[in-house]
Amino acid sequence: MSNYHIKHLEEYFQVYRKSIENPESFWEEIAEEHFIWRKKWNKVLAWDFSQPKVTWFEGAQLNITENCIDRHLATRGNKTAILFEPNNPNEPAEHISYKQLYDRVNKFANVLKDEGINKGDRVCIYLPMIPELAIAVLACARIGAIHSVVFAGFSSNALATRINDSDCKMVITSDGSFRGAKIIDLKSIVDEALESCDGVSTVLVVKRTQCEIQLKEARDKWLQPLLDMASPERIAEVMDAEDPLFILYTSGSTGMPKGMVHTAAGYMVYTAYSFKNAFQYREDDIYWCTADIGWITGHSYIVYGPLANGATTVMFEGVPSYPDFGRFWQIVQKHKVNQFYTAPTAIRALAKQGLDMVEKYDLSSIKVLGSVGEPINEEAWHWYNDNIGKKNAPIIDSWWQTETGGIMISPIPYVTPTKPTYATLPFPGIQPCLMDEDNNELIGNRVNGRLCIKFPWPSMARTIWGNHQRYKETYFSSFQDMYFTGDGALRDEVGYYRITGRVDDVIIVSGHNLGTAPIEDAVNEHPAVAESAIVGFPHDVKGNALYGYVILKDSGESRNQINLRKEINQIITEHIGPIAKLDKIQFTEGLPKTRSGKIMRRILRKIAHKKTTDLGDTSTLLNPEIVESIIKGSVDF
Ligand code: PRX
Repeated sequence: MSNYHIKHLEEYFQVYRKSIENPESFWEEIAEEHFIWRKKWNKVLAWDFSQPKVTWFEGAQLNITENCIDRHLATRGNKTAILFEPNNPNEPAEHISYKQLYDRVNKFANVLKDEGINKGDRVCIYLPMIPELAIAVLACARIGAIHSVVFAGFSSNALATRINDSDCKMVITSDGSFRGAKIIDLKSIVDEALESCDGVSTVLVVKRTQCEIQLKEARDKWLQPLLDMASPERIAEVMDAEDPLFILYTSGSTGMPKGMVHTAAGYMVYTAYSFKNAFQYREDDIYWCTADIGWITGHSYIVYGPLANGATTVMFEGVPSYPDFGRFWQIVQKHKVNQFYTAPTAIRALAKQGLDMVEKYDLSSIKVLGSVGEPINEEAWHWYNDNIGKKNAPIIDSWWQTETGGIMISPIPYVTPTKPTYATLPFPGIQPCLMDEDNNELIGNRVNGRLCIKFPWPSMARTIWGNHQRYKETYFSSFQDMYFTGDGALRDEVGYYRITGRVDDVIIVSGHNLGTAPIEDAVNEHPAVAESAIVGFPHDVKGNALYGYVILKDSGESRNQINLRKEINQIITEHIGPIAKLDKIQFTEGLPKTRSGKIMRRILRKIAHKKTTDLGDTSTLLNPEIVESIIKGSVDF
C-alpha cells in the first residue's frame, strides 16, 4: 500500500484512517519519501487553533523550486515541463523542458537579485498567462522573495490596493495581453496603479504584444535585455519550512481583500500529494488546468503541484471562445490532453454552444475531468460527463479554497465512485465536519450545516498578511477550535459531502469570489448614489450574478436610468474590474432595515431570486412597507 498514490477504494479508506489516527507519522512518511530537503524537521506538526498558530515541518529547510525543477533534471531533463499554448492558434505552441525551465528560472532569479530583490521582499506579478508568469513565480520562490500574483483582469485600483497592502518593491508586468481578438494595455493599468504606490522602485516589463508603451525612466525596464545580461549561475535560497512562499488575495465579505499567506514546506507537500491523487497523473500524461495563475487554482495546480510531480502542465494564454467556442477541445486534441480541469462556468458556457463544436474534435485522450471553484449543477455535470468524458472519464468535483491551498474534498478518479454535484469524500489528512449555528457538531449522515475543518492540514494559509487578528476572527471565531470555511454543506446517507454554497456575503460569480461590501463601496462613489445593497441571484452560465439595489440621492434624478446603470458599472470596473459588474440594477426608494440599521439582505436575496411569496419574518423591520415597493419595482431587464 502506498500512502502517496492511492489506487483503489479500499486503499483510500485505509490511508484515510491512518492519516486521521496518526497524522504526524502519515505526513512525515510522505515528506520523507517524496521530496528533497536541505535539512529535516524537528517536529512535524504544532498547532493551536485558539491563537491560531500552526506549523508543519518546523526546523526543516528547503527550496520548493529544487523540488519542482532541479530534482527532475537527471530523469526528466528533456521532458516538457510547461507546454505553452498561445492565444492565437496559428502561433506555435512552446515546449519548455525541465532543463530549459531550470535555465530560465535561474536567469530570472539572478535578474531579481541584480535588481535588489532579497529574501522576504514582496514582488507583485501582474502578467497574462504566458510562460514568464510561471517563470517569475518560480524565480521569486528561488530567491525566497514572496510573490503576490494579481490576476491581470483586475483594475488599477484593485492592483494598487494589493501592491500597497503587502508593500511590494517590484512589479513584473508586460506591454500588453492578448485576450481573444482584444489586446489589453496592461502597462497603462500598472502606471495608473503606481501613481499611488510609493514603495515600488522597479517595474520589469515582458514584451508580448509589441504594443507601444511608455517606460518611466529609472523605474521601468524591459526584461529581455536584463535576462540577456544576467548570470546563468545556479541560485537557490535556503528557506525555512514556515517562511512565507506567497501571498494571494481573496475577497472577504467586508473590507479589504485578504492577503492569504502560504508557507513553503506544508504547501509543497500537500499540493504535490493532492495533485498526484486528484488527477492520477502518470509519467507521460499531459495535464491541463484552464485556470489563470492569478488564482489559487493556477498556483497549486498549474505551477507547484504538477511541477513537484515532474508533470507536463499546459498553460493556455487565451479564452474558451477564441477563435471560436471549440478552442478548448481543439487544444485537447492537439496536445492529447489526459487530465482536463476547469470551472463549471466554462462548462455551462460551452454547453450552450451546442455539440457541433465538441464533435469536431478527438477527445479520446481524456482520462480525468475536473471541476472547481463553484458548485457544479446537475445539468452541467451530465453534459461534461456525456460529451467530453464520453461517460468514460470520472469527474472530480473538487472543493477547496484560496485559504486551504489544496484540494480538500474530492473524488479520487478511478477510486471514489462519483455522484453528480457531490464533492464526495475528504482527502487523506482532511477532517471536515458540519456544525449547527449553536456550535454543535452534527454527527451522522443526512445532515446539513456549516462546513468546518477540525484538524490542521499542511497547506492551510497561516495568516492574513499584516492582520493576524482578522485571520483569527474570520476563520477561527465562529466555531470553537475549528477552521470555518464560510460554506454550507450537506452529508448524504453514505457520508458524501455536497457543497451548497457560501453562507456569508461572499458571492461566487463565474467562479470568482466577490465580497459585496467593496462593490457597494464602489457603487456609492457615484455622485448620484446615496446607498446600495448587492446580493447574488442564480444565473444559468455564471452560477450567480449580481443584483444591486440602489437608492439615489435625489429620487427625482432626471438622468436616464440606462446611463446611470452604465455609469455605475463603469465605476465598478474602475474600482475592482469587469468581473464585478452588476447584471441587474434596481433603483429603489429605500432598503429593508432592522431597527439597528442593518440591511436585511435575506429579503433582498429572496426578491432577487423571485421568491417573494415566503419572505419570512419581517416584523423586526423598521420600514416593512418598503418591501412591497421593492417587489413591485423588481423588474427583468
Ligand atoms: O464556496 C466555495 C467555492 O469557492 C470558494 C473558494 O473560492 P476561492 O478561494 O476563489 O478558490 C476557488 C478555487 C479553489 C469556496 O469557499 N468552491 C470551490 N470549489 C467548489 C466550490 N463550491 C462548490 N463546489 C466546489 N467544487
